[in-house]
Amino acid sequence: MSRESLVIAIDGPAGAGKSTIAKLLADHLGIRLLDTGAMYRAFALAAQREGISVDDAESLGELAARTNVSFGEGDPPPVLLDGEDVSSEIRSLEIGQMASQASTVSAVRRRMVELQQAIVSTGNTILEGRDVTTVVAPQADLKIFLTASIEERARRRWHEIRERDPSARLTEVVKDVVERDHRDYTRQDSPLMLAEDAWIVESFGLTPVEVVDLILERLESIAR
Ligand code: DC
Repeated sequence: MSRESLVIAIDGPAGAGKSTIAKLLADHLGIRLLDTGAMYRAFALAAQREGISVDDAESLGELAARTNVSFGEGDPPPVLLDGEDVSSEIRSLEIGQMASQASTVSAVRRRMVELQQAIVSTGNTILEGRDVTTVVAPQADLKIFLTASIEERARRRWHEIRERDPSARLTEVVKDVVERDHRDYTRQDSPLMLAEDAWIVESFGLTPVEVVDLILERLESIAR
């Protein structure tokens, strides 16, 4: 494994802690973080602004072809929709649901994967999402499937969402996570699945720092 260009890919269901772990790892290793879910969210926001329904696959495909999603400079890097910083706007439950629905459209996936692969091709990247170990970067030096129980994942999401929306209810978040799991695992085009050579990390009972330590140990062992 060449440390000159290290690519780590992390997949897993909603709320498994991928963003926290990927951010800690990226900071520790001093390499770029690519949040692929944020790109689907930014795209969903573009569709919402244009009044395109998530059921209208054709219009979504057309929109995807003329939409650019990128990242600016900063920590965390701002998510740019055609150059506009939409980082906070994309974090609502509604946009999460829309992103999950829009991401079932093949033309949307193709466009996002194309943009993501262009970023990864510049090297040194930690990417996280639902298809990054299987489709976006199957060549990654380390592939991880991060997971936790549904209760644990919903609780984490709830804490996250409550910071912005104190009225958010846990039952609503559980329902959201269950729905998204179902859609992410069962969509026809590149469903969330376990890559054959992915390493499964169960984060239950571990702090984020403990999970990162486990991953760093694993990295050391494959670098030897
Ligand atoms: O990780 P997230 O909650 O920000 O992702 C939002 C949605 O985007 C998720 O429910 C499914 C979709 N997604 C995807 O299809 N493929 C990815 N690599 C990342 C996210």
